[in-house]
Amino acid sequence: MENFRNILTEEKESVLYLTVNREDKMNALNFETLEELREIFDEVVDNKDIKAVILTGSGDKAFVAGADIQEISELNEVNARKFAENGQEIFAMIENCHKPVIAVTNGYTLGGGCELAMACHIRIATANAKFGQPEVNLGIIPGYGGTQRLTILVGRGKANELMMTGDMIGADEALQLKLVNYVLPTKADAIDKAEEIIAKIMSKAPLAIGMIIDCVNAAFLSDENGFQTEANSFARCVKSGDYVEGTSAFLEKRKPIFKGE
Ligand code: COA
Repeated sequence: MENFRNILTEEKESVLYLTVNREDKMNALNFETLEELREIFDEVVDNKDIKAVILTGSGDKAFVAGADIQEISELNEVNARKFAENGQEIFAMIENCHKPVIAVTNGYTLGGGCELAMACHIRIATANAKFGQPEVNLGIIPGYGGTQRLTILVGRGKANELMMTGDMIGADEALQLKLVNYVLPTKADAIDKAEEIIAKIMSKAPLAIGMIIDCVNAAFLSDENGFQTEANSFARCVKSGDYVEGTSAFLEKRKPIFKGE
């Protein structure tokens, strides 16, 4: 995959490493960076060589310190709605991607940065990470899905408190609130942990992984019956060669070799 102006890309052993690379702006998400994310995830869906994604921010200070406040300061009522819908659409692409996407949140993970991390399937924080939805300080609210995903992840009371106060919390509190899965001392440790999890996931049946992502996401949607999605997805798994391979391997007391078909 090519490199983009604001996002570094590197492929290693079927894992795509993405680094938001606007270090002088705390990796803030401007419109161009969001569009690069759209282009990248469009390709991730179809590219058979990419089996997982690790997303992080450049440097040690920030994962992403929010949407770009310069751009936010120029919005009007009409394009503000589009601004929010556009970000929501791109983050939904990440959330619905059938390949695991892990956010390594190295430092400030604020506003649109926290929303971006929450759209990923798993979050691993560095010890210096700080999380928050400080939009209220700018007279606005989260617009890239934060009001919904934060509420589901940490519950109504804490979500209200975090969004209404704009307070930042540290990595340990984020872990306690289940906003992140793990806290590791450094970015290198956090990437190691992400790679360990991905290696485990990549040894499983890819179609089943995609179905798990769909079903877990269905639990977020009030207009979808998640149990029905689960039953339908379960039935789709049973049509796959990986199902035959997985069950046969168990009965034959050998390791399965999954092909993703
Ligand atoms: N959008 C645009 N620029 C941003 C930014 C954002 N969300 N966050 C940081 N930056 C820029 C700063 O303007 C500054 O640029 P400059 O050097 O050209 O002046 C640079 O990044 C460094 O930030 P600075 O504020 O000097 O660093 P700090 O260590 O003192 O503070 C933060 C770091 C993250 C606490 C602080 O930058 C901040 O509060 N950022 C905004 C967070 C936010 O409100 N996000 C939600 C947006 S909807």
